[in-house]
Amino acid sequence: VTDTDTTLRDEADGWLAQIFLTPEGSADPTPWYRLLLDRTPVHRSATGSLFLSRYDDCRAALRDNRLGKGEGGPQGMLASGDTAALEYRRAMFERRRGRARSMLALDPPDHTRQRSLVSRAFTPRRMEALRPRIAELTEDLLDDLAEAGTADLMAQVAMPLPVTVISEMLGVPRAEWPTIRALVTDLVASLEPSATAPELAASEAAAEELFAYFTELVAERRRHPGDDLLTALIEARDEHDQLGEGEVLAVANLLFAAGSETTTNLIGNGMFALFAHPEQFAALWDDAALVPSAVEEMLRFDSPVQLDGRTVLEPAEVAGVELEPGQRVTTLLGAANRDPARFTDPDHFDVRRYLPGSGAEPVMSFASGIHYCLGANLARAEGQEVFAALRRRFVRIEPAGEAVRRHRLTLRGFETLPVSVSPR
Ligand code: HEM
Repeated sequence: VTDTDTTLRDEADGWLAQIFLTPEGSADPTPWYRLLLDRTPVHRSATGSLFLSRYDDCRAALRDNRLGKGEGGPQGMLASGDTAALEYRRAMFERRRGRARSMLALDPPDHTRQRSLVSRAFTPRRMEALRPRIAELTEDLLDDLAEAGTADLMAQVAMPLPVTVISEMLGVPRAEWPTIRALVTDLVASLEPSATAPELAASEAAAEELFAYFTELVAERRRHPGDDLLTALIEARDEHDQLGEGEVLAVANLLFAAGSETTTNLIGNGMFALFAHPEQFAALWDDAALVPSAVEEMLRFDSPVQLDGRTVLEPAEVAGVELEPGQRVTTLLGAANRDPARFTDPDHFDVRRYLPGSGAEPVMSFASGIHYCLGANLARAEGQEVFAALRRRFVRIEPAGEAVRRHRLTLRGFETLPVSVSPR
């Protein structure tokens, strides 16, 4: 390692600390991603972790079966200096040892088995069948928005819709939706590298409550099967096995954790991108046929999930770097989506980019390989229904106050996004 290498390494660790640990950095990571992409796209941090920014490197790492989830465990992605948080993560990891894990945290062959059983209850047919219901739920939320005239788009539409959709899929009674929604918000805080010990404690408490809630609901569905996903999960089996009770619970929790705030942020980040690009906003409002392409571009331009990663399971060369078991590889999905080697004019927001036949590179926002987002088509359906309905109903939507970003990066999005709407 030469001096220049060490200097660049320290500099790049500084950029990452900006993105991960400061409100300004997480508010707009784009300049830092640009620096990483230009100067050190394969960055070996002083912590020993490898950070990948390029599209091809991220994809290759996510598809490399020598990398995986491993034991899970507390990974200090960056030494944040928050020893209380790291201690909490260690203790929480110990407490959870031996519990059934969801596919998100599993490697083959367990991952393969669980994912194939769950996919069966999660078929494209089921997803398409859900469309009219998503449209109905969206209309209800927009009725309230229209009546209010001015409201927080996050609280009014972006947050309730995805949790409601999953709740309905799983057969959670309507009266429980608000409770579940609040728990899910606490739950996902632990996905952030910057989570503090109190946030981790709240997340763990929320996980426990959700487990308790679903334990009861599973028992109820065993007695009285319904036409819902939870019943399908309970009954999912092939000729050899079925999902164990613990796994059903882990999967139910996963669907909320993976499927709600992500889609919430697709809606919020997408609306914000339209505000920031009035000519693109106008083009979309002019032509309903642009909706699917625009939603895809929203996913690319301001990805709801910015970070993903793997643990090295067996010795592997990744992006030209020799890695040993136990090392961490972080894939910066948000940077990969802005890689000039894969996207023309990557920092430009273009609602036509994904028109059929354009040949644009698929977004990296849903990852790649065996853990590729199981809910990608559901998320797209929700995003498309929301923007199609907003477009149909409101001639104009304008910012109506300060948009407040969450200081979160794994799941990147807004806390509040005040808007005022003018009905057609
Ligand atoms: C815009 C919205 C969404 C984004 C950006 C997103 C992103 C992702 C990403 C990046 C992963 C891969 C994680 C990894 O590599 O470890 C993932 C996995 C997953 N997502 Fe999504 N997701 C979204 C919506 C949803 C929805 C709506 C659902 C279901 C209700 C869902 C369910 C899942 C599941 C079950 C996995 C785990 C798959 C596996 O481990 O094999 N996601 N998602």
